[in-house]
Amino acid sequence: DPARRQERIAAVRAELGDDVLVLGHNYQREEIVELADFVGDSYALSTRAAEADAETVVFAGVTFMAESADIITDADQSVVLPSVEASCPMAGMAEALQVDAAWADLTEVASADSIVPICYMNSYADLKAFCGEHGGLVCTSSNAARAFEWALDRGETVLFLPDKHLGVNTARDLGIDDATVIYDPWDPDGLDPATALDNDLVVWDGYCQVHDRFTTDHVEAVRAEDPEVSVVVHPECRPSVVESADAVGSTAQIRTLIEDADPGETWAVGTEIHMVNHLDRWADADVRALCGDACSDCNAMRQIDPAAVLWVLESIADGSTPNVVSVDPETAEYARTALDRMLDL
Ligand code: 13P
Ligand code: SF4
Repeated sequence: DPARRQERIAAVRAELGDDVLVLGHNYQREEIVELADFVGDSYALSTRAAEADAETVVFAGVTFMAESADIITDADQSVVLPSVEASCPMAGMAEALQVDAAWADLTEVASADSIVPICYMNSYADLKAFCGEHGGLVCTSSNAARAFEWALDRGETVLFLPDKHLGVNTARDLGIDDATVIYDPWDPDGLDPATALDNDLVVWDGYCQVHDRFTTDHVEAVRAEDPEVSVVVHPECRPSVVESADAVGSTAQIRTLIEDADPGETWAVGTEIHMVNHLDRWADADVRALCGDACSDCNAMRQIDPAAVLWVLESIADGSTPNVVSVDPETAEYARTALDRMLDL
């Protein structure tokens, strides 16, 4: 019974007080964004985690976000992920072992110092550690351009992993798209390492299945239906979609844009469907999904069920903290270097 569950959540939160901070990503379902202490994009959630005083951070998001929070928080704080199934498929598209093998190929034809790796926040801790160890950094959808500029100042070529769409969209922003290639080291017909490194930017061949499904046909269809509509999309969308939209931004940037819109403005939003529905509730503007019924939720984010949040909170109150996300100290040290470089940007 959702009403009974909400009562229990309110009661246990009152009991736990400031000992527990609940962070929620914008893609979480309504009941969770309503109960979270702070809701935001990956960047804002990482800064909130870094500032947190609470003994325990309950992270209503996905594994890579909880890992980053664990790396950024103090050693005596715990980070709890209410469901261990909440894993972003895109983060799994560049595993550290695969990247090590590709790095060996690339550094056979160029010095390691000339290649600066950047990983998207949507990656596991071992890939962040790889970037930290090799002079690189982490970025999110809200600071990718700044991170790329930082890296281009320090090396000949930037290697960006794993999201090809964010990589190419950022290259376009910076005017280096003519010197950008998508690299799949296992494609027998693909680029060889030396040809790839002739470019400013080498982008791993990963993508988000929630955002990759948007096409320019969806943008044309909403415009045909309503010529007054404005379109905003997330930079994990295909470059053709980003180019045809009126605006692009991280989930927090999309939220700010829509909340600042005037009443009567109409916005079609190309991102995860729960967030589109939150914006429709929160904003004065008329908000619709970019592709109607075909817009999807994120299977990883959906794993965070309100019942699981209640279970972790009641367990913490009972003295047994479940689902603690803990990155091993050596990985955490290098990954922290890469995260700190981003936070210092
Ligand atoms: P934001 O950093 O924009 O919140 O994006 C996270 C994400 O997973 C988008 O798919
Ligand atoms: Fe990963 Fe895409 Fe879900 Fe974001 S929306 S967490 S990138 S699968």
